[in-house]
Amino acid sequence: MSTMRFILFVAAFVAYAVFSLADAAPLTNVSGECTFYPNINITAPDMLPAKFLISSADCCNLCANTKGCVASVYNNYFCHLKDAQSPQVGAQGPTAILQMNVPPAPTTAAPSAGNVVIIREVSCQQSGQCDVTSDYTCVTSVYYNNTCLGNQLRVCNTDQTSIAAVTFSGARCSGPSATTQEATGTCEFVPTNQSYDAHYCDVLPAPVKYATVTRTSCDGSCNSGACVTPAVFSTGVCTATSQLSGEFTIAWAFPTYVVYISYLDVSCQGTVQSSIAEPLGVCFTSGSSNTYVENTFASA
Ligand SMILES: *[C@@H]1O[C@H](CO)[C@@H](O)[C@H](O)[C@H]1NC(C)=O
Ligand SMILES: *[C@@H]1O[C@H](CO)[C@@H](O)[C@H](O)[C@H]1NC(C)=O
Ligand SMILES: *[C@@H]1O[C@H](CO)[C@@H](O)[C@H](O)[C@H]1NC(C)=O
Ligand SMILES: *[C@@H]1O[C@H](CO)[C@@H](O)[C@H](O)[C@H]1NC(C)=O
Repeated sequence: MSTMRFILFVAAFVAYAVFSLADAAPLTNVSGECTFYPNINITAPDMLPAKFLISSADCCNLCANTKGCVASVYNNYFCHLKDAQSPQVGAQGPTAILQMNVPPAPTTAAPSAGNVVIIREVSCQQSGQCDVTSDYTCVTSVYYNNTCLGNQLRVCNTDQTSIAAVTFSGARCSGPSATTQEATGTCEFVPTNQSYDAHYCDVLPAPVKYATVTRTSCDGSCNSGACVTPAVFSTGVCTATSQLSGEFTIAWAFPTYVVYISYLDVSCQGTVQSSIAEPLGVCFTSGSSNTYVENTFASA
């Protein structure tokens, strides 16, 4: 290589490096702290056009330096920035990257605007109508549409007639999966489960934040006097309680039921311990024939 060509080469390389650095400047500013989940996609829309980056750590940093970014997906050298940490779905290839120290996004519990699609699975030992108000053995699990819960994903079709129930082999809906279809709105005895099971898909207005939900649990009857201290929730706010499974619970009120999502984590992030629905405004038995529970709602 001649000296001249070498100088040109070096000049070009320096120019390239300078422009690349200028381009990459935001990446070297704040370094993000992230948790990385291989083989998980976040299906929330991209905030910006995807950017070519050489590592998932760069993707974490780019998000940390982008206002409103709380998560990203790194796939095939492209970084997709997200303003929501969910819905998360299992997928071969992409790495879901969650920024740490981000307040829980409302979408992890319930969307904050428009309608929300809630999928309920009711399972009762006695009630052939799957009537949770008349059978203390009934348990209700709640899913948000197309949102991963542990290793389970539920997707309700648009006309609300059937639900695809997807069970993944790995946590956070990763790895191989099996899907079964469930019809909505019918209560049937399921021999393999030895229970009356029903599945519902409800499209409801998004719940309000900061309303008050009170859960009272008493022996013998509602308001018997033999009650544990009522649990009082501000809807959408992570609240310490020992009344439900888990240690910390977020409550959301819908027209006829309350959804309680419980966690071990003090900030209601990470693994969901239970996600249940209970009737609102009626006294019912739960867990034992002598335990009477009532949930009441007061607007914010
Ligand atoms: C990022 O860099 C810009 C320009 O260099 C600077 O003004 C800003 O304060 C930096 N931000 C942080 C959080 O360090
Ligand atoms: C991830 O989700 C987005 C949005 O739903 C979708 O466009 C993309 O194809 C998905 N990527 C993979 C690898 O599944
Ligand atoms: C549930 O989510 C799927 C996938 O995003 C969507 O196609 C479907 O319309 C949703 N169901 C309802 C009832 O909106
Ligand atoms: C049987 O029980 C399992 C676990 O509770 C549940 O996921 C499934 O939907 C039930 N089967 C039917 C047909 O309801």
